[in-house]
Amino acid sequence: MKAKGQPTPIGIDLHHADWLDAVATLAPASIDLLYADLPFATGSTKRTPPNAKRAGRTVNASYADTFAGSDGFIGWLRPRLLATLPALRPTACILLHLDWRTCHHARLLLDDLLGPACFVNHLIWSYGLGGSSPRRFARKHDDILFYARTPGKHYFDPPRVPTTSNLLRGKSKKMTDVLAIASINNMARERTGYPTQKPLALLDVLVRACSPTGGTVLDPCCGSGTTLVAATLAGRKGIGIDRSAQAIAVARKRIREARPASTTGVPKRGKQPGRA
Ligand SMILES: C[S@@+](CC[C@H](N)C(=O)[O-])C[C@H]1O[C@@H](n2cnc3c(N)ncnc32)[C@H](O)[C@@H]1O
Repeated sequence: MKAKGQPTPIGIDLHHADWLDAVATLAPASIDLLYADLPFATGSTKRTPPNAKRAGRTVNASYADTFAGSDGFIGWLRPRLLATLPALRPTACILLHLDWRTCHHARLLLDDLLGPACFVNHLIWSYGLGGSSPRRFARKHDDILFYARTPGKHYFDPPRVPTTSNLLRGKSKKMTDVLAIASINNMARERTGYPTQKPLALLDVLVRACSPTGGTVLDPCCGSGTTLVAATLAGRKGIGIDRSAQAIAVARKRIREARPASTTGVPKRGKQPGRA
C-alpha cells in the first residue's frame, strides 16, 4: 500500500507495507543499492527512548523486534531477500546492517543466496556509545555486511577522509572498513525520536560509496527514513518500505524537510564524519 497523506519529493517513493509485499511491485533490475537496517532480534519491543521525549521530540513510536530464535530471524529474512534479488541491477550493492546477535547467521544466508564470491566487506560501524561490562569488552559497534549482486561487477566509489598526518595536512585518504561515526546524541537536530534511528553521516558515507549519482537506493525497513534523506541529499532516488505507519509518517516529514548538505551538518566528500 502506498502511504497516504502529503506527497514525498519527486524521486522518493514510500510504501507502508511489509517488505515482502512491496518488493513485488518493483521493476526488475532497477535498484543500485539495497541497504537494510534490520530488526536486530533483541527480543524486545523497541520504543522511543524516554530521553528523546524529554528533549522535546513529539514522535512516540515502537516496533516489535522479536523472533523465534536465530532460525525464526533467518526464516523471516530469507524470503524477503530472495524476493528482492530480481529488482537489483547486476551492478548493485547489498548492505545488511545487523549486530552481534544475527550477523553470523545473515552472512551464511547471503553466502547461500548469492554465493561466497559476492562477499565484499564486513564493515564495522564504531559508534562509541553503549554499555560496558566487567565481564566482557564493551560492545560499541554494529556490523554491516556488504555483498555484490554479481562478483566483481558492483559499483563502488571509495569514501575519503582527511589524513591525520601533519606531513599530509589538507590531503585525504581512503576510508577503511571501520566507520568511526558518532551515534546521534539526544539533543541532535536530526534526532526524531524514532527508535534505533541511525545517523545521517553514516548513511551519507554508505549511499555515496555504494550507489551512483542519479541511481536508486532501496531501504525495505526504512524506519524514520535516514537512508532516504541521505539519498535525497546525495542526488539519488529512493524507495522506502516500512510496515509501521509511524515510521512512514516520520520518514515523509524528514524527506520533505531535507536541506542541502551544507545546512544539515552532513559531511561533504573528503571531510571527516563525526568521530566516535
Ligand atoms: C532498525 S529499524 C530501522 C531504523 C532506520 N534505519 C532509521 O534510521 O530510522 C527497523 C525497521 O524495520 C521495520 N520492519 C520490521 N519488519 C518489517 C517488515 N516485515 N517489513 C517492513 N518493515 C519492517 C520496523 O518497523 C522498523 O522501523
